[in-house]
Amino acid sequence: MNTISFARGVPAPECIPVEELADCARAVVERDGDTVLSYGPVGGYGPLREWIAERHGVEPARVLITNGSLQGMVFLAERFAGERVLVELPTYDRPLKILAARGVGVDAVPMDDDGLDLDALEQTLGTGRKPGFVYTIPTFQNPSGRTLSVDRRRRLVEIAREHELVVLEDDPYGLVRFDGDPPPTLFELDGGQHVIYSSSFSKTIAPGLRVGYFVLPEALERQLEALAVSTYITPVLLGQATVFEFLRRGNFKPNLERVSSLLAARRDAMLEALESELSAARWSRPQGGYFVWLEMPEQTDTGTLLERADAAGITFVKGADFGGAPNTARLAFSFVSPDEIREGIGRLGALVAEPISV
Ligand SMILES: Cc1ncc(COP(=O)(O)O)c(C=O)c1O
Repeated sequence: MNTISFARGVPAPECIPVEELADCARAVVERDGDTVLSYGPVGGYGPLREWIAERHGVEPARVLITNGSLQGMVFLAERFAGERVLVELPTYDRPLKILAARGVGVDAVPMDDDGLDLDALEQTLGTGRKPGFVYTIPTFQNPSGRTLSVDRRRRLVEIAREHELVVLEDDPYGLVRFDGDPPPTLFELDGGQHVIYSSSFSKTIAPGLRVGYFVLPEALERQLEALAVSTYITPVLLGQATVFEFLRRGNFKPNLERVSSLLAARRDAMLEALESELSAARWSRPQGGYFVWLEMPEQTDTGTLLERADAAGITFVKGADFGGAPNTARLAFSFVSPDEIREGIGRLGALVAEPISV
């Protein structure tokens, strides 16, 4: 039996604009090969840096383009080594590992259906030393698919001002929206004073290009550049120039619309299948992104369920891997087809027909 993977938070192959990217890559090498195939500016390929700076209303000197945004997270963790960082829970597991490996003390703040719990954040701020930053994924969060409400966005920015707190807004999914109106980013609400913004072309164009970026205060940008120089001298300019060519040709918006509609069909298939197969559970209903957060009845241990699911030809990531409760799980709808989603959730529904005890 083929395994249906709800574990892979990666785009389905048809989301990747292979032909156009091949064309863009060839064009940049032919036109500008001397530059993009050599060492160059550590902050990133100039024209792309300018495009990003303009998009966010900042000077290019505040933009650091890295080999995927996760690489920027590594630099940030190195810069804040030994300090304290607050994270929402559940959260993306890789930054947790990166922070822990660099000796950053991580304290968790809970979240609910509307995102980060700001009363809990204020309480946590009142205890212990001042954090180096607060890490949040406010839009279509990985792993929960939840989005921070507009009211909470405003209040979070106020809290950041009051406490002179740095907030890292990690936003790779915000543009991958299927329905509803986009809320303002924390960065926009704050005017880029206390909020560091990071995003990526991994979900909007292709992850294999490895092009992510941070918008930072200038002094911090320079510090991270110094770490980048001693890590890779120059980021992968060919990937960045290929992204820029894709943008320059006007491919970005139509591609995003195409990708969003492919993913929306998957999100719809997943929500409908959950409705008909898993009536005892609850789940998030994201308006975009890659993930649905599943909350099984309290007595269910999704670790045990996962072992049985593997045997039944389905896989997912248990919520505990993201700091979630034992009865939770992350279901990625991005990789599998709508038919596979229906089949996979059907298999899951059959499995949970008998409850499993912790
Ligand atoms: C919340 C979040 N941040 C960052 C990343 C890393 O993205 P990139 O491919 O730009 O390194 C991911 C990838 O899945 C993610 O989910």
